[in-house]
Amino acid sequence: MTDILETIFKRRSIRSYEDRPVEREKLIQLLQAGTAAPSACNNQPWEFVAVDEPAVMEQFHTRLEDGPYNAPAAIVVCYNPQVGQTQRCDRFWEQDCSAATENIHIAAVGLGLGTVWLGVHPIEETISIVKDIVKLPEHVTPLAVIYIGYPAEKKEPRTKYNESIIHWQGYGHKK
Ligand SMILES: Cc1cc2nc3c(=O)[nH]c(=O)nc-3n(C[C@H](O)[C@H](O)[C@H](O)COP(=O)(O)O)c2cc1C
Repeated sequence: MTDILETIFKRRSIRSYEDRPVEREKLIQLLQAGTAAPSACNNQPWEFVAVDEPAVMEQFHTRLEDGPYNAPAAIVVCYNPQVGQTQRCDRFWEQDCSAATENIHIAAVGLGLGTVWLGVHPIEETISIVKDIVKLPEHVTPLAVIYIGYPAEKKEPRTKYNESIIHWQGYGHKK
């Protein structure tokens, strides 16, 4: 199996972390992975808030109902309609930002880190909480919070490949 396939299968949601910080250099590498993602019309309508201050992380841990895990760092993937290269493709922003988010997850595995994707958009209440925690301006929307840290739990690599959901040449046709 290729290294990249192994890395993709190794990516699992990690919800328990060692009590040690993530190096800034690694966070920057993750941001570089995020910004390497494809986007419609190469629009790149994204901005990122990287967090490694314990006081800010504590806010996430306590205020995000679906994110009470002890991650020492996070990246908030955001959509800003004012930073895109072309408004024509802005409507693809959720896909653009999701591509960046997944790149960060995969890159983290390669750096020995664990992550979990916390969904924010389109839940209005969660959007408000995240905006408040990281002080986003009104026009900037958080798509996701990615928790990052050294894993304190081990999960088996896996794919969820299942032939029943795969169709060849057209729906309903099996190999
Ligand atoms: C859009 C999205 C939102 C998610 N939100 C949460 C969340 O709020 N809290 C959480 O613990 N996991 C969250 N997850 C992680 C999923 O629960 C996880 O990916 C799924 O159970 C499959 O497990 P795996 O990531 O180990 O393959 C989210 C994943 C996605 C793609």
